[in-house]
Amino acid sequence: MAVDGPSGSGKSTVSRRLAAALDGVYLDTGAMYRAVTWAVLQAGADLADPDAITKIALETELSIGTDPSAPHFAANGINVDTPIRGAEVTGAVSAVAAVPAVRKQLVALQQAIIAGHPRIVVEGRDIASVVAPDADLKVYLTASAAARAARRSAEDATDVAATEAALARRDKLDSSRSVDPLRVASDAVEVDTTGMGIDDVVAHLLSLLNSKVSR
Ligand code: DC
Repeated sequence: MAVDGPSGSGKSTVSRRLAAALDGVYLDTGAMYRAVTWAVLQAGADLADPDAITKIALETELSIGTDPSAPHFAANGINVDTPIRGAEVTGAVSAVAAVPAVRKQLVALQQAIIAGHPRIVVEGRDIASVVAPDADLKVYLTASAAARAARRSAEDATDVAATEAALARRDKLDSSRSVDPLRVASDAVEVDTTGMGIDDVVAHLLSLLNSKVSR
């Protein structure tokens, strides 16, 4: 199953819950871009230099957890679960994710992981359009900017207005980049989760999947 959408749309929580309900695995592709960004920052590379970013991305050995109850990530043998969620990585990740060679490398890795797991829920921005166009179900989760900011700031204990401004900035960068921008695939089901509880979203998507695969 492919789950795309902007930050704070509920993708991660919903995708992990779906993977567990389906007795499958979970792939957080955003965490892959974040782990490479962590390595780029560690190396002190210039975020405006795509060649330097590409070199570090190619040299970084990623360990990618796909267990929906504990999706741990490591880069070059160091666990990065905490720093990849920090402000420094969050502020830099759009620049790294916009580098075509980085996307090429990570998309190939994502496709290899998907090929090894017949039951997998994959979340990101370009899953339905680029990474897994043959997914059984393609979902585009969205929510109002205010609802997305409220969710994120509750998770991070940050100010709602500042979070909303940061989300808007990142959405703009992710939607306007020239390579694989965030967009709704033509055959994706769009679900607006504003005002919906997680249980309702998960139940709705499982019923969509059931009707799709039993057809
Ligand atoms: O979902 P997230 O916030 O963890 O994603 C982190 C960043 O990575 C986000 O700015 C967009 C980018 N990303 C991407 O370009 N393609 C993906 N498949 C997943 C994430």
